[in-house]
Amino acid sequence: MVETQFDLRRGQLIALLLALVVGLFLFEPWSLLSKPIWEQTPSIKSIAEGEQVFATNCAVCHGEMAVGENPHHPMGGMKDQGGYIAPALNGTGHTWHHPDAVLFKIIQEGSIAEDSPMRGFDEKLSDAEIVASIHYFKSLWPKEILNRHKEMVQH
Ligand code: HEC
Repeated sequence: MVETQFDLRRGQLIALLLALVVGLFLFEPWSLLSKPIWEQTPSIKSIAEGEQVFATNCAVCHGEMAVGENPHHPMGGMKDQGGYIAPALNGTGHTWHHPDAVLFKIIQEGSIAEDSPMRGFDEKLSDAEIVASIHYFKSLWPKEILNRHKEMVQH
């Protein structure tokens, strides 16, 4: 008798634990607390919004469709007469070597080079608009580059 009661209680406890584990995996409550905004999955809406943000704030330097200030120098670099060339952000340059978190930081806070024209947009754009601009220029990357970027971030 005592033994059956014990088994029953243990069974209930195991069922409860199982339910808890399954619940955690299904709802991933921690993701609500900790997932940073730049990890949001691009959507048709965010890409379209990003296209507007880009056209208004970025294309003047980075070019239409993010081809770069000088499409012969997609990596950017220096101008003969001095000053930085705005690099291509469309996947032909070096930009995809940066994880999304770094891209977000560059756009929000500006370049670490103090003499760079790439200044931060934290006072002009919301976090969501910055993320949308990243979604837009990443939508221009070839699939192969997107995959390599994903792999790089995971390792
Ligand atoms: C006034 C010109 C100018 C504007 C406007 C501008 N950028 Fe830049 N940006 C640059 C230059 C020049 C660089 C390269 C030099 C550097 O990193 O300091 C750069 C670098 C970057 C980089 C790093 C690229 C890499 O390959 O390392 C990103 C990302 C970027 N810009 C995104 C944006 C976005 C998004 C906007 C609009 C919200 C924007 N920029 C607006 C001039 C500009």
